[in-house]
Amino acid sequence: MTCDQPPLPAIAGGPKAKVTPYGRDTRYGADELAQLEEAIQQQTLFYSSGSKVKALEAAFSSMNGVAHTIATSSGTASIHAALMALGISPGDEVIVAPITDMGSVIPILFQGAVPIFADLDAATGTMDPASVGARITDRTRAVVAVHLAGNACDLDALMAICSERDIALVEDCAQAFGCTWRGKPIGTVGRIGCFSLNEFKHISCGDGGMVVTDDDELAVRLRLATDKSYDRRPGVAMRNPAFLAANYRLTELQGAVALAQLAKLEGIVARRRSWCEALNERLAGLPGVRTPQPTPGCNPSWWFYMMQVVPEQLGADADEFAAAVSAEGIGVGAHYIGTPVYCYPVFSEHSAFRRGTHAYAAQEYGPGLCPEAERILRDCVMLGVNEGYTQADLEETAAGIRKVACWLSARGGR
Ligand SMILES: Cc1ncc(COP(=O)(O)O)c(C=O)c1O
Repeated sequence: MTCDQPPLPAIAGGPKAKVTPYGRDTRYGADELAQLEEAIQQQTLFYSSGSKVKALEAAFSSMNGVAHTIATSSGTASIHAALMALGISPGDEVIVAPITDMGSVIPILFQGAVPIFADLDAATGTMDPASVGARITDRTRAVVAVHLAGNACDLDALMAICSERDIALVEDCAQAFGCTWRGKPIGTVGRIGCFSLNEFKHISCGDGGMVVTDDDELAVRLRLATDKSYDRRPGVAMRNPAFLAANYRLTELQGAVALAQLAKLEGIVARRRSWCEALNERLAGLPGVRTPQPTPGCNPSWWFYMMQVVPEQLGADADEFAAAVSAEGIGVGAHYIGTPVYCYPVFSEHSAFRRGTHAYAAQEYGPGLCPEAERILRDCVMLGVNEGYTQADLEETAAGIRKVACWLSARGGR
């Protein structure tokens, strides 16, 4: 893309680029209502006696070509169930990404284990396998691979690192429904894949989650982990808990909505893909702005669109860029979560619990742990994505971002 005679941006008195309201699909409708009605008519809302959660699990397994799906009450619950099922115990170390939702990390602390943060790849923003490898110790039991913004981590490299040392790879797919790795559905490469059905994800039932695995034994433990370690299989002593579990069950109401939503997933991902790929094409080569780069091997599912500014080329930082793009009527925000997770007080002040000594107290957390992640947060600008976005949204968004980048770089870039 060239910058010949860019029009004036809105912050310099020009007209706004975005003149039509962004398109948005109706999220919940007749399909969800029909499923809900059937759930109510069952006269049970309990997963084990109803049909909706079972149907959801069967449909997700078949969609992913995986042996087992266990529904859970959230994405956080999914990751916690994975760690419980794997037997993660006090003092163990679990490697995780520093740019993520707390839901990736809370379960590690609840297991009494120590979160170890690995740095990110500068271009893709996903976990850097070299940093993961460097942070493994003889206490490392699992890696939680966070597939950020619908883009997969380098799963070949992470699998190689983990299998060599018998470390479990858990995929956090909360932001990556529908993404693929070398053609395989996301979540099916590692030992367990974890999904979120919260309100903001590709598909939703308000709150909920799912875990997938091909491992029969792990599947049994995953179910127990979500249901107080009560074994509801026929012919098994039910109340005989062998390990500490939680109540992370999904109700039939949520299962019904999720089932209707699952049928829409393919279309949702396809529309997000074509819109974001077209935006990438239109913004390619823009001065001072890097478009999102999928990890080679990944077909991303675009939960949001993460740009990175190069301040010395743009002549502006992420805040100035985001303010100028917002002035065009385009909804962007700088810095995503603001600081890496390890700078939150729960880490820097070890304030997870009031009393006692948790193993993570011996670990120092604070600025400098993951320099590339800190740089990414400083320079990133996020554009929200919706499957209802139109061709007009695409052209206006591209024109607005282009106008701003060209104007800023002509003004002060080098
Ligand atoms: C990467 C990631 N992991 C885990 C979670 C937790 O999911 P939930 O909110 O369903 O607990 C989220 C939610 O935003 C997330 O984005």
